[in-house]
Amino acid sequence: MSTAVQSTGVFAQLKNKIETKTARVGIVGLGYVGLPLAVEFAKSGFTVTGIDVQETKVEGLNRGESHVQDVPDSEVSRFIGAKRFIATTDFSVVRDLDTINICVPTPLRKTKDPDMSYIVSAVEEIAKYFHPGLLVILESTTYPGTTDELLLPTFEKLGLKVGQDFFLCFSPERVDPGNPIYQTSNTPKVVGGVTPACTEMGRLFFSQALDTVVPVASTRVAEMVKLLENTFRMINIGLVNEMAIMCDGMGINVWEVIDAAATKPFGFMPFYPGPGLGGHCIPIDPFYLSWKTKQSGIEARFIELAGYINGNMPHFVVDKIQNALNDRGKAVKGSHLHIAGVAYKRNIDDMRESPALDVILLLMKRGAKVTYSDPYVPQLKLDNLILESNDITASATAADCVVIITDHSNFDYPALVESSNLVVDTRNALKGIESPKIVRL
Ligand SMILES: NC(=O)c1ccc[n+]([C@@H]2O[C@H](COP(=O)([O-])OP(=O)(O)OC[C@H]3O[C@@H](n4cnc5c(N)ncnc54)[C@H](O)[C@@H]3O)[C@@H](O)[C@H]2O)c1
Repeated sequence: MSTAVQSTGVFAQLKNKIETKTARVGIVGLGYVGLPLAVEFAKSGFTVTGIDVQETKVEGLNRGESHVQDVPDSEVSRFIGAKRFIATTDFSVVRDLDTINICVPTPLRKTKDPDMSYIVSAVEEIAKYFHPGLLVILESTTYPGTTDELLLPTFEKLGLKVGQDFFLCFSPERVDPGNPIYQTSNTPKVVGGVTPACTEMGRLFFSQALDTVVPVASTRVAEMVKLLENTFRMINIGLVNEMAIMCDGMGINVWEVIDAAATKPFGFMPFYPGPGLGGHCIPIDPFYLSWKTKQSGIEARFIELAGYINGNMPHFVVDKIQNALNDRGKAVKGSHLHIAGVAYKRNIDDMRESPALDVILLLMKRGAKVTYSDPYVPQLKLDNLILESNDITASATAADCVVIITDHSNFDYPALVESSNLVVDTRNALKGIESPKIVRL
């Protein structure tokens, strides 16, 4: 970085504010990503303002109530009480902020095109109150080029020069909800700026609250890092799902194959099959990449193929259930199917893109009566239907078949097998339990 850039008054002033923790930190979008980040910066001594468009969330936070499972109420109320965290729906607070992290949703449209409307709306609101000396960091997962092509022109139109008057970065979010080991503070944070001064400011900012910061040369590199990470997972899960289908056809236990392969101390990393992809990242993010590369005439073939295989898994699971019932002289039509676990992954309450929804709808379409149990999801909205979580033992006893979709740790699996008539296990939750009632993926 040139010393000329470093020595400008704006750079030096913001650097000083960040180092002395007097910088006023703003987080836009207080969801699974934004709220833990806000709390982390409050913990490390900053005063943090959270901005969200949902009034109910903002009101709850200001009462000291967290809506994110990984953030306890006690932490929110501690910082609200100490006036180190406040939530608002009013973007005019941007006037008084020194840094802004944007953590708003980036869903895909039905056509698998990125929906940038949340980012655009947040950026337009920020632009109204933009001022020299701001550091803006986009964290929402998106296609490479978003920060340069969407954010930069909006802010430069205001007559300010990036890297001198303000600083702009992209930093991919790696939060893994429910992970007991890796949380916001100890997960290394990649950051890339539009200019070297931006990268340095981003690095300095995150290093105040997080253990490890990994600076990269540009916003595009940082954007692509996230897509490589999630595409890597999506494709490997696709491979192992296809492996499960092949093993099923050959009567081989895929779980045993994976466990044995994982004993190789180098060159292999285990991934596990399941009822389909869920959550906000893995099923969605790779399509940002395929959408962007299509514009340059490059087809992301691995992504499309893995998307197809993973998207088909709920159908494979339903066929497996049908076959298991047929073998016992029953059919899906008219049977009672009980789903154990509906969240998209173990020990969390997040239903976004959960494959349980597809499995339930497919079963209902084939004429089954479906109930479910999930200690984290008391109620489930499905098209026009609302289901309530049931007692697992009573339901398992009454059902023709129990289907384990989410392997929550607090299910009593031996008791579940005991009380069930038939169990289809899509997660290997019953590893180590032998019973003729068990049908494994
Ligand atoms: N949840 C994860 O595990 C995870 C992991 C890595 C990356 N991400 C990415 O991080 C981003 C945020 O995801 P999330 O899971 O926190 O989403 P979320 O839906 O939990 O939270 C987003 C928040 O932004 C608010 N919001 C929407 N539009 C807004 C606007 N214009 N101004 C201010 N607030 C607005 C919403 O009300 C909501 O509270 C997404 O791009 C996602 O892909 C998420």
